[in-house]
Amino acid sequence: MKAIVYNQFGSIDVLQLIDQLKPTVKAGQVLIKVKAFSINPMDWKIRKGNMKLMSGSKFPKHTGADFAGIVEQVGIGVSNLKKGDEVFGVVKNFMKEGVSAEYVAVTAALVWKKPEHISFAKAAAIPIVGTAAVTALKKMGNITSKTKVLVNGATGGFGMFLLQLLKERDAIVTAVASTRGIEFAKRWGANTVMDYTKENVLTQKTTYDIVIDLSGKMSYRNAKSILKAKGKFLNAIPTPLEIPISFLNNLFTSKKHIVILASPSSKQTEVLLNSIHKGVEIEVNKVFPFAQYKEAYQYAEKGGYVGKVVVEVH
Ligand SMILES: NC(=O)c1ccc[n+]([C@@H]2O[C@H](COP(=O)([O-])OP(=O)(O)OC[C@H]3O[C@@H](n4cnc5c(N)ncnc54)[C@H](OP(=O)(O)O)[C@@H]3O)[C@@H](O)[C@H]2O)c1
Repeated sequence: MKAIVYNQFGSIDVLQLIDQLKPTVKAGQVLIKVKAFSINPMDWKIRKGNMKLMSGSKFPKHTGADFAGIVEQVGIGVSNLKKGDEVFGVVKNFMKEGVSAEYVAVTAALVWKKPEHISFAKAAAIPIVGTAAVTALKKMGNITSKTKVLVNGATGGFGMFLLQLLKERDAIVTAVASTRGIEFAKRWGANTVMDYTKENVLTQKTTYDIVIDLSGKMSYRNAKSILKAKGKFLNAIPTPLEIPISFLNNLFTSKKHIVILASPSSKQTEVLLNSIHKGVEIEVNKVFPFAQYKEAYQYAEKGGYVGKVVVEVH
């Protein structure tokens, strides 16, 4: 089978399409014929060696964490899935495993039946950003129709789910996006939308109960100036140092710095599927064929699009 691998950290140039043996299925796993996988910023952060502490430096490495496909074979002990099921899912250890191949063997506990009404490409776009949005929502605590939330970087994959989940909970949402994201942010439920290419959210006079940054461009120090006295800053892109620092900070100040480290689970996926059945949209901006995987990564890494980028394998 064909698989995308890399043997050293680096730019898109280190990615190679190679022939390798189909994986064998262990107990508790299923073999998936991959129809599509999505691209996440974490893919290139790992590939560039920015996350060595967690990814390790053992090669070859595969890339891609979430996928959709068809169950080809089930391992011993798997009772919830059968051959032929149309599914989507995520690898257990996304720092070390990857789904960028024609077939992958993955833990059955992180594979779910695909809703019939959505395509493989859309289903592949759900797990990483969708479950991160559910995690963020949980960290926000009790949300009412009076809770004012600012989502900075609101129309990437993560923001797409978060805006819609916040809308379901009636929060008062301000979305910060680039010009191309404005209409999407409104459609996904933002009450106010700011174009970061024209306005600076930090110099407005509005304060928020919760500020979440999904762009990597806003620090806790910046966010404090627009937080209410007992507000929370949610940091989805923490540096390793920010994890202990935020813990210490929270002992001494009422404006909390909360780090998000999402780990997909069935419980979170259930919340998402429920919302997807009620109409939550999944915007796939572009689908690339497998052979054009380098173009797909180039496009995704450059940014400047709304929603998700997906690679179609079969
Ligand atoms: N901690 C966790 O567990 C976890 C889980 C999943 C993802 N993440 C991280 O969360 C981040 C968001 O994920 P994603 O998949 O949504 O990424 P994404 O698709 O790249 O979205 C980032 C968004 O930020 C916007 N942006 C860029 N510069 C900005 C600025 N100066 N001000 C405001 N917005 C700006 C971009 O808009 P334009 O492209 O239109 O400029 C884009 O829509 C990524 O860094 C990802 O690695 C963390």
